[in-house]
Amino acid sequence: MKLLVVGGGGREHAIIKKLKENPSVETIYALPGNGGIAQDAVCIPEIGAKDLDKIVNFAKSHNIGFAVVAPDDPLALGCVDRLHEAGIPCFGPDAKAARIEASKVFSKNLMMKYGIPTARYATFTDMEEALDYLTTAPIPIVIKADGLALGKGVTIAMTRGEAARAVRAAMEDRVFGDSGNAIVIEEYLEGPEVSVLAFTDGTAIRPMVSSMDHKRAGDGDTGLNTGGMGTVAPNPYYTADVAQVCMDTIFLPTLAAMRAEGCPFKGCLYFGLMLTSDGPKVIEYNCRFGDPETQVVLPLLKTDLLTIMQAVENETLSDLDIEWSGGSAACVILASGGYPSHYEKGKAMTFPASLPANVALYHAGDKLDGQGRLVTSGGRVLGVTAVAPTLNEALADAYAAAETVDYEGKYLRRDIGRRALAAMEGQ
Ligand code: AMP
Ligand code: GLY
Repeated sequence: MKLLVVGGGGREHAIIKKLKENPSVETIYALPGNGGIAQDAVCIPEIGAKDLDKIVNFAKSHNIGFAVVAPDDPLALGCVDRLHEAGIPCFGPDAKAARIEASKVFSKNLMMKYGIPTARYATFTDMEEALDYLTTAPIPIVIKADGLALGKGVTIAMTRGEAARAVRAAMEDRVFGDSGNAIVIEEYLEGPEVSVLAFTDGTAIRPMVSSMDHKRAGDGDTGLNTGGMGTVAPNPYYTADVAQVCMDTIFLPTLAAMRAEGCPFKGCLYFGLMLTSDGPKVIEYNCRFGDPETQVVLPLLKTDLLTIMQAVENETLSDLDIEWSGGSAACVILASGGYPSHYEKGKAMTFPASLPANVALYHAGDKLDGQGRLVTSGGRVLGVTAVAPTLNEALADAYAAAETVDYEGKYLRRDIGRRALAAMEGQ
């Protein structure tokens, strides 16, 4: 069978490597893919992830048997709806269901209506009303742009002045464009964060191994927010008891709510959770696999990924048992110096002749230059993942392998997993 994967980052590379394990897969096309993904798939750099017409035409003309739409933008734009109209089976939510990520006003109202635990909030489309609300709101407070904002639409404001500046940036300066036409102002929550990705066909749900992201650029969770500087799985805070509470109070109610709203969610639903003293609460939903969570979760998956994705599409997930390896995984992101602010591109990359069997490189931001050599082309360049029986070993192996890849300006956090290890010692 020929497969198509829409997207071109480390997450897509991890999905592609896993899909390739199925012997019935002949060719995987990545639209657009990237330089490193070209080692595992046929990349089509001319077709961007948002070029829906071109994606659908490509799928039809290349006899694609199954498509996976990974990034948020094409999902929100209706890529899955369009592929389905063209008769192509695919994995991912339709545009109506993707609103669970694409509109924070939608997702907050959904949680409120169906009693799903989340931070208390108010929504605004009028800037003066938002600023007025802030004069009496408790501090710290969280300001969120309604729409997709490349992960940059959230401000944790420690002062009223900072909160007001965030509101003005979104609604007056329009730094997020239309995504800031509406905003959510919500209560500040505290507690360990857990990411749970789950396969769901709208009714049945199969949570994957939990994970922990490291969003800030600097060691010790300092510096600017990034797309994610590293991940570990499983997340030690996510015990079996917590998982059961989440299933009963968050996961199943969310699926039921989406069905009741007439937009059942099929695909990978990402629950960004905070384990507060008052129980687990939803920080955010994503309508897709997380990046770089996928780079630690899928390497632990033992069941065939294509079989699972087809069961989601065919709504037969309840018939499937999904197996996970009992070990741990760690992913260290190699970034370009300066990321997430200004950074340079086009740096030649060097790789070791071979890698240990438990290590994988997931290419996120590189491309082939005129001579067929890999050069950096993005802020997050590469994810180095290691799988091992324990988290300690996985981290040691991921960091050792990270040393063997080089390019000018290579930047990485040195403390990925430290908090998870400390939590395990405390248990
Ligand atoms: P998001 O882009 O929605 O994932 O938010 C980015 C980060 O902001 C999250 O991973 C949390 O660390 C933090 N955050 C979001 N909402 C809240 C909240 N209500 N209270 C505290 N931290 C939050
Ligand atoms: N790692 C967070 C996300 O994918 O949104």
